[in-house]
Formats: sequence, C-alpha cells, structure tokens
Amino acid sequence: MSSSKPVVVVTRKLPEIVEQRMTELFDVRLNHDDRPMSPAEIADAVVDADVLVPTLTDHIDARVIARCAERCRLIANYGAGVDHIDVATARNNGITVTNTPGVLTEDTADLTLALILAVHRRLAEGIQMMEEDRFVGWSPTHMLGHRVHGKRLGIIGMGRVGAAVARRAKAFGLEINYHNRRRVAKPLEEELGATYWDSLNQMLSRMDIISVNCPHTPATFHLLSAPRLAMLPPEAIVVNTARGEVIDENALARQIEAGGLAGAGLDVFEQEPSVNPKLRNNPKVVLLPHMASATHEARIDMGEKVIINIKTFADGHTPPDRVFPSML
Ligand code: DGY
Repeated sequence: MSSSKPVVVVTRKLPEIVEQRMTELFDVRLNHDDRPMSPAEIADAVVDADVLVPTLTDHIDARVIARCAERCRLIANYGAGVDHIDVATARNNGITVTNTPGVLTEDTADLTLALILAVHRRLAEGIQMMEEDRFVGWSPTHMLGHRVHGKRLGIIGMGRVGAAVARRAKAFGLEINYHNRRRVAKPLEEELGATYWDSLNQMLSRMDIISVNCPHTPATFHLLSAPRLAMLPPEAIVVNTARGEVIDENALARQIEAGGLAGAGLDVFEQEPSVNPKLRNNPKVVLLPHMASATHEARIDMGEKVIINIKTFADGHTPPDRVFPSML
C-alpha cells in the first residue's frame, strides 16, 4: 500500500460516526443511499481501491476477488461472519481478510435468550393480543407457555457467543450442554457448568432447547438436517442467531408443522431476506429480521475494528482480526 491515504470502498451505509472517522483517515468511497451493490458493481468499484469493506449482504466470490486482486490487498469485513467471502481464493490472490469478532458477542447472546423466552412464553402472541385489543382478562388457562427454568439447553458452537449464551442461560436456571469441534478448556467448562457432547446426535436426542451459535462453513451447512431435527424430542425448540444455512429450513418447517418440534426462534434465514412461507404466521415460530447484533454500540464498535484492521494493515503490520481459511 502506498504512503498516501489508502483508497477504501465501503459497500453499505455505516453509522455516521464511523463514516466520519473513515473520511478523516482514508480516501473513502461511501455508499450514501445504502442500496446493496451487486457483485459486478463491487468488482467495478474495487479495481482501483486498496481496501474493500463489505458486509454480510455482499457476495465476495472468486470473480469479485479476481477484480479485487488488480490492486486491493485487504478485505476488511464489517461483521464477524465471513461465509459470504471466498477466503481461500482471497488468500491465494494475496489478499488479507479480516472481520470484527468479539464486539457483537453480548448483544447476540442477549437476543438468543430473548428468543428462548419469546418462544417458550409466547411473547409475540401476547404482544399481538394486546395490539389487537383482544385481552379479556386473566384466567387459569390463559396464554400458557412453558417454564424455562430447569430445561436442558444444548449449545451448538461454544465460541464467544456460545459461552455468552451459556452464562446467561445458567442465570435462568438452564442446564448447559454443548457440542463443539473441540472441547473447551476445563476452567471455562467449570465456570459454565457445561457438559460436553462429542456426539451431536446424542446431545440432540436429550435436549429441550437447541441454540445454534456456530459459524456457517462447508462443514456446518445443514448441520441440523432433517434426520438430526427428527432426533430432537417433540417438546424441544430450536433457536438460531448464527446463520440460516446451518439449519435445513424446509425440514424445520415440516417438523414443526407435523408436531415433531414445539417451536423455533429464528433471527437468521437460509435465503435472507426471504423467509420460508411455512415458518410465517405460525404461533410456534418467532421470527426476527437478523437483528441479534443490531445495537448502536455494536455497530460503532464494529466500525472501530474495521478501522483498526485497515490502519494496522496500511502501516505494514498484521491486522488483529485476520481470518485464515483454516479457521473456517
Ligand atoms: C455478523 O457480524 O456476522 C452478524 O451476523 C451481523 O449481524
């Protein structure tokens, strides 16, 4: 990168304070109207840039990377998940990829618990009833949901977010179980009071609540497949604040419809922003518009991380949040 200000292309509108700081530090090209850019538009925009700042709504595939490679040496993703970026091809083309881990953890964990509570305690139905002025008074059988305390929670993916979910869930009196590529360190397991399941299948058949907290990678695509969803007890629920692709959404919808599962709380979807119609208007399913990390604080912190990654890279050092294909 030259000693003058790096040319930075940002694909979506970012919080004002982040854009201001970027404008001070870089020769930045912002997307003021926030219209999502097509891969071809991104490719055209990045040919004469040093850095690309995409988000999860962009598809940074091999073709875009080939155009990037003409000049760009850094893809500084605004977000933690990088499943929309062909990281291996970027690396083969000498392009470094970074992300923004850590700063969305607590907010995502908060919303995971909110979904568990919403599904078990029928929050969406209750709110709708009040909005439609249908509340006619308390009765012993009115709006019965299910107790959260004492339920067995199975966390798939015990990374930062998984651990933050476990901490909150423990405070709600849930029993913590987890499946992960690798067992976590003993002190963390002890802190969380968590039981490790080497076999995902065995864990599934014994859980009341499943929380998906692993990244979407080739290895986790449809990890919750139709046969695996069928292993869950019929009174179990599934919540997902990670990526839609980890669950076979059609199979999930069928399973809930058939009474094989008690419900689901979903913040992410396989074909975002489309949502499987079978999941809509089902009182057993609570849907949110991919907002688990949508706090002012997280979005500003994400911007800070992007800026630090770009600055560090431009100064000739390894950026702190570098992503390697082997991590995926
Ligand atoms: C991420 O950063 O990957 C989150 O999904 C954004 O909400």
